[in-house]
Amino acid sequence: QILILDFGSQYTQLLARRVREANIYTEVLPFDTNIEKIKDYPLLKGIILSGGPSSVYLQNAYKIDAAILNLDIAILGVCYGMQLLTQYFDGSVELADQQEFGKATITIDDETNLLFNNVDKNSQVWMSHADHVVKLPNDFKQIAHSDASVAAIAHNSKPIYGIQFHAEVTHSLQGKTMLENFLFNIAKCSKDWNLDDFIEQQIKLIRETVKDKNVILGLSGGVDSSVAAAIIGKAIGKQLTCIFVDTGLLRKDEAVEVMKAYKTNFDINIKLVDASDLFFSELKGLKEPEAKRKAIGKSFIDVFTNAAREFKDADFLAQGTIYPDVIESSSHGASSKTIKSHHNVGGLPEDLKFELIEPLRNLFKDEVRKVGFKLGLPEEMVNRHPFPGPGLGIRVIEEVTKEKVAILKEVDAIFIKKLREWNLYNSVSQAFVTLLPVKTVGVMGDNRTYDYVVALRSVNTIDFMTATSTHLPWEFLDEVVNEIINKVDNVNRVVYDVTSKPPGTIEWE
Ligand code: XMP
Repeated sequence: QILILDFGSQYTQLLARRVREANIYTEVLPFDTNIEKIKDYPLLKGIILSGGPSSVYLQNAYKIDAAILNLDIAILGVCYGMQLLTQYFDGSVELADQQEFGKATITIDDETNLLFNNVDKNSQVWMSHADHVVKLPNDFKQIAHSDASVAAIAHNSKPIYGIQFHAEVTHSLQGKTMLENFLFNIAKCSKDWNLDDFIEQQIKLIRETVKDKNVILGLSGGVDSSVAAAIIGKAIGKQLTCIFVDTGLLRKDEAVEVMKAYKTNFDINIKLVDASDLFFSELKGLKEPEAKRKAIGKSFIDVFTNAAREFKDADFLAQGTIYPDVIESSSHGASSKTIKSHHNVGGLPEDLKFELIEPLRNLFKDEVRKVGFKLGLPEEMVNRHPFPGPGLGIRVIEEVTKEKVAILKEVDAIFIKKLREWNLYNSVSQAFVTLLPVKTVGVMGDNRTYDYVVALRSVNTIDFMTATSTHLPWEFLDEVVNEIINKVDNVNRVVYDVTSKPPGTIEWE
């Protein structure tokens, strides 16, 4: 087992994913977790100190409980983590003249070092640092360097390592090998994390917790809540009631399809609540994305609360919370900046005294999908592209109206249908359309048109934190545009968004 101490890097989740991908169980904990808590993990083999936006030499810099350094386990500091190790062992770190952001090449100085098994002498890595090590820590040696800085260090006698680069991102071409070298050769972890055991344990745990009581769950039709419903349904059957809120901001026919899919695949109770009028009225006049997100989030909670109040005999509220949600919402001072406020069914009023059940709270998305398959959910449910909680409300740019949502639903349905026809749906990570608040001039037949512009977006990504736009074939795009212009009224222009994330985000709002 491995623990990751988080100093607020945008890449901390990625580090955790890499460890899980190697079939080793890991958890992310706040950077200042004390030694007593860490000793509660009896199978602990190693600790990874993440990167972070701070500087180790500042007065209020984030520090670890130094007793950790005396534990008889392996330690790997990444970026800020390496600089922190440097400071603890009496080296020094300063603001660099030549800062490194982006791709860089490192040269390995100690080719027989275990960390670099099967790694080339010169290897491309991803750097993102303004500070660097200027004096090596005592009892450490440099084991790799870049043009600008010390790139990796190792303690002379203990299994303590530091790397300046981010081995966890895919731009570090041999980063996976290096991390696996740390996990298996240095920390001596064994592969002991498997999802069949996980499912059995959860079913047993849910039965023991719920006994003969009842559970309610808010369904969104997305993967997380579907898989949560499946695992809880498998454990307790009709003791589970799912509430599915139709916000009016779902994709075309989604409410009907989701209800059908649940009714055929699950032996649980489902209740559909049509609340579209409320959502549209709350959104009236709002243009600013965060204001829209907040209005949608609040309406969702209101509707769900009212529906939940009808279930007086439910003692438990189940949620499809997954591990990235847990990491993102754990506020421990070092959390990274909020770019957008995501919403889930949190913040329920005090008088609804439910106990929470979150069977997926330790899983990453890819693990959730695997659990879904193992529980027999249909492919089209498990492999659905993610759909944001605020739905089409953040894909109609600026003010949302029923009419605009109706246009967007048609266009979006054509794009997704074509992706499936061309067998592209499963090779892209997420695809959708946004409706822009501008009209442009066009010509159809012999007539002038003055209609809306829509933007197609398709991205490929592993973690949804960085993404690149999909290189869709022109012939495919031609066909999509053709069908949209011919079939959907009020749209006369289609553009394709080729922005990566960063600098863009995946959604437009
Ligand atoms: P961004 O736009 O931040 O999106 O690059 C990253 C991923 O998150 C999805 N997303 C959301 N999911 N509630 C959600 O459950 C939200 O409020 C929300 N906003 C964005 C987005 O679709 C993409 O998959």
